[in-house]
Amino acid sequence: TSILILNGPNLNLLGTRQPEVYGRETLAMVEEKCQRHGTSAGVEITCLQSNHEGVLLDAIHAAKGRHDGIILNAGAFTHSSVALMDAIYSVEVPTIEVHLSNIHARESFRQTSYISKAVIGQICGFGSFGYLMAIDALIERFKGGSD
Ligand code: DQA
Repeated sequence: TSILILNGPNLNLLGTRQPEVYGRETLAMVEEKCQRHGTSAGVEITCLQSNHEGVLLDAIHAAKGRHDGIILNAGAFTHSSVALMDAIYSVEVPTIEVHLSNIHARESFRQTSYISKAVIGQICGFGSFGYLMAIDALIERFKGGSD
């Protein structure tokens, strides 16, 4: 069983980027935590971060047949990218949307997510723990045998 964790624009700056909003953990620390969580649950975790929408699109396309699930924090593309939404619809790989912050409690432009239309569900507001919750949620879904 294999899960792809995709992080979008500016998430490479985690740790120093608005730490009061996004926390002090670096992306490397978050990814390491996900790797350990995956190992203990017996699933393979692959992590990728890009600031480029096209790279994220290519990664979603390539996930079909290669990964059983996707965890996506699309960063600001969440609020603008019809292309990412379409990609998730197209590959039919079960996807969970994650945000570190509670986007619904922030500026109004963050309260709309194109991603959320195409995913199983959204986890936001729990910081990096949200990625671990998403791993568990995908594993639960794999057990059910439906994807
Ligand atoms: C974010 C929320 C987005 O609105 C923002 O543009 C980000 C990070 C989050 O993880 O809370 O880059 O996706």
